[in-house]
Amino acid sequence: MELKNKVFLITGSAGGLGKAFAQKLLARGAKVCISDVKVTMGLETEQEFASEYGKGNVLFQELDVTSEPNLRLVWENTESYFKDKIYCLVNNAGVMGEREGWRLCLDINLTSVMQASTLAVEKMGKSSGGEGGTIINIASILGLFCAQQPKGFPYNVSKSGVVTMTRCMGSKDFYAREGVRVLCLCPSVAQTPILEACTQQEITKMSKDVGGIMSPDHVANAFMSLVENGKTGNVMAVWVNSPPYYIPDTGMALFIVYTTCAMILSWVPGVRSVRPWLMALTVFGIFIQWYLCGKLGAYVYNSIL
Ligand SMILES: NC(=O)c1ccc[n+]([C@@H]2O[C@H](COP(=O)([O-])OP(=O)(O)OC[C@H]3O[C@@H](n4cnc5c(N)ncnc54)[C@H](O)[C@@H]3O)[C@@H](O)[C@H]2O)c1
Repeated sequence: MELKNKVFLITGSAGGLGKAFAQKLLARGAKVCISDVKVTMGLETEQEFASEYGKGNVLFQELDVTSEPNLRLVWENTESYFKDKIYCLVNNAGVMGEREGWRLCLDINLTSVMQASTLAVEKMGKSSGGEGGTIINIASILGLFCAQQPKGFPYNVSKSGVVTMTRCMGSKDFYAREGVRVLCLCPSVAQTPILEACTQQEITKMSKDVGGIMSPDHVANAFMSLVENGKTGNVMAVWVNSPPYYIPDTGMALFIVYTTCAMILSWVPGVRSVRPWLMALTVFGIFIQWYLCGKLGAYVYNSIL
């Protein structure tokens, strides 16, 4: 995909993963607005990138993602600075939640992502006269399953919400109507300032749990692959020492299997609720029956012929 001169707006990108994404995009000739609540760090990053990739290709804007008017202003400033429409919004700003509390954690990690995506569709969506575009949400592997992280579960709740939102909003119908691709990246643990919220002991345990801590560059390579090849609704995971991989939505398929088992078990007298072991037994029973019917069928067929 040709990225030259395409305009990207990345939230929470003064440092960490957002900065690594910005660097890869700038190296490919894209134009990037870096935005963050950390102004000093953001201005330093802007200066660093301006001297490497040219002043006209990078802009820093102070942005608190929880404020919709602030985001609207940054959107307008970005388009007037680059004299072009934004092609891609990267919802990257995030916090672990312990210092902020669960309400602000959900506000930053989830509500702001929905708010920014709504604005992005208003600006880029074809139904409101836009040219289409892309939204990339940065979730986490902790949005894909339930597991503990040292700072508690609000982070997992927020990231699961982001994955679900991507899959719902990333439907083919929505894409056909608005021309906006919605994608999601789910990294494992990476070495960034977000880990400053953890003790060394917590980091060592996390690293052991996930087989090692990734570099921001490794995550940024996956990000670039998603930008270039992702199809709307795609969710991509990033794991240490592995190529990035897509995670299909198996939720409905499993639900259908479980529901079918429950319906079959409704014929068995005395079953009042269905536990997983009973489902496993039902599936096993179906396979045995299938096998026996096949054998019987073959016997009857051979006897007649
Ligand atoms: N580093 C990891 O291990 C890891 C793993 C999985 C997912 N992630 C996700 O990746 C994203 C980037 O995190 P990171 O690892 O680079 O950490 P980071 O702390 O370096 O980056 C997050 C940035 O978000 C900014 N931010 C926080 N609140 C904000 C707000 N209200 N408005 C605007 N900006 C705000 C911070 O100032 C910070 O610069 C986050 O969403 C995080 O949850 C990180």
